[in-house]
Amino acid sequence: MAIVKPVLAANWKMNKGPAATAEFFADFLARHQPADDRTLVFFPPALSFAAAREATAGRPDIRLGVQNIHWERSGAFTGEISAPMAAEAGAEFVLVGHSERRHLFGETSEETARKVAAALAAGLVPVLCVGETLDERRAGRAEATVREQLDAVLGTYPADRTDSLVIAYEPVWAIGTGETATPQDAAAMHAAIRAQLAEAFGAERAAEVPVLYGGSVKPDNVAELLAAANVDGVLVGGASLDPSGHAAICAPG
Ligand code: 13P
Repeated sequence: MAIVKPVLAANWKMNKGPAATAEFFADFLARHQPADDRTLVFFPPALSFAAAREATAGRPDIRLGVQNIHWERSGAFTGEISAPMAAEAGAEFVLVGHSERRHLFGETSEETARKVAAALAAGLVPVLCVGETLDERRAGRAEATVREQLDAVLGTYPADRTDSLVIAYEPVWAIGTGETATPQDAAAMHAAIRAQLAEAFGAERAAEVPVLYGGSVKPDNVAELLAAANVDGVLVGGASLDPSGHAAICAPG
């Protein structure tokens, strides 16, 4: 299915079991009417995925993804889930290289590249997350860090699959801190990301890849972030856990 911009994505991280997931959607769906001028994606925990699918049956405007995959299709990888399994369960999207995976669980850029390839092979849309730490920003290395994280994937990404790629720029210092990048900071990094996509795929194909912003997005700052140049959507953490707040984030501006 096509990905219509803006993309409004909710990363629940390790929050909401199956019961809380069903409760969330009962409330959220009553507040949010289907709209074909945007794409809503939810990333519940893997164990709550079936509950999310059941709760959103009959609402094709609500699309689902998983927060992580392993790059192998199956095998002795205790605790992991694979891309084909996620696709079979009804996932269309997968987060890859979230900063919490990179910084708390030691995921390398080489691993993110393998996960992106596995996602594509299984027909999932990878949402590749990139972003610099505060130290990297202070050292003037914000753009270089993001460039390296993107390079690791774009070098081998097939140019004819740009319709199945989403990038999320999430500055680590803005995640869960209440600190948001200014629309100008976001626009500057998003322009650099777009330029790098254009180097890899050409300007026309680069333009179709949604580049999302994430990091302390809230109902009261989403409009100005979405209005920034090259910001094609948002990836919301904490604020997406509340059905009324998230409905406000997803409401037409
Ligand atoms: P917060 O919105 O809680 O800052 O989290 C952002 C994020 O990491 C989304 O993936």
